[in-house]
Amino acid sequence: MSPLAGALNDQEMKDIGAYLAKQPIKPATAKNKDTIEAGQKIYRGGIAAKGVPACAACHGPTGAGIPAQYPRIGGQWSDYTEAQLVAFRQGTRKNNPVMTTIAAKMSDAEIKAVADYVAGVR
Ligand code: HEC
Repeated sequence: MSPLAGALNDQEMKDIGAYLAKQPIKPATAKNKDTIEAGQKIYRGGIAAKGVPACAACHGPTGAGIPAQYPRIGGQWSDYTEAQLVAFRQGTRKNNPVMTTIAAKMSDAEIKAVADYVAGVR
């Protein structure tokens, strides 16, 4: 980013910020009908048998999160959510022990289902 951002002066940065602030957000949507129900169950209730807590407990019922503590994940592209959960599970993303513990207990199918569901959560 810095070679690009470095070429902008303060006014240009403000102009770009103002432009972006006016753009409507086009969030992702869930795509896989077969796993929406499973994804919703995990999101709202966790996976009791494996000790996986409900995602909604921290990320909120609408996926909006709790600013500064728990990030918004609702409307996020499922590919990104899936990649983050896999990275937490593999230990390649290790900035949050809670998420690492949660992802470690999840199967690929569970990760895919909840990632797809999250894309449609508002
Ligand atoms: C106990 C609280 C808690 C629970 C329960 C929880 N999370 Fe998280 N999650 C967090 C925190 C805190 C972070 C922020 C980590 C960081 O600082 O990057 C996070 C980060 C994430 C991220 C990365 C977001 C990003 O923008 O990179 C994803 C994806 C995610 N959680 C998905 C889930 C899913 C899916 C579940 C349910 C299976 C879940 N979380 C349950 C606390 C929680």
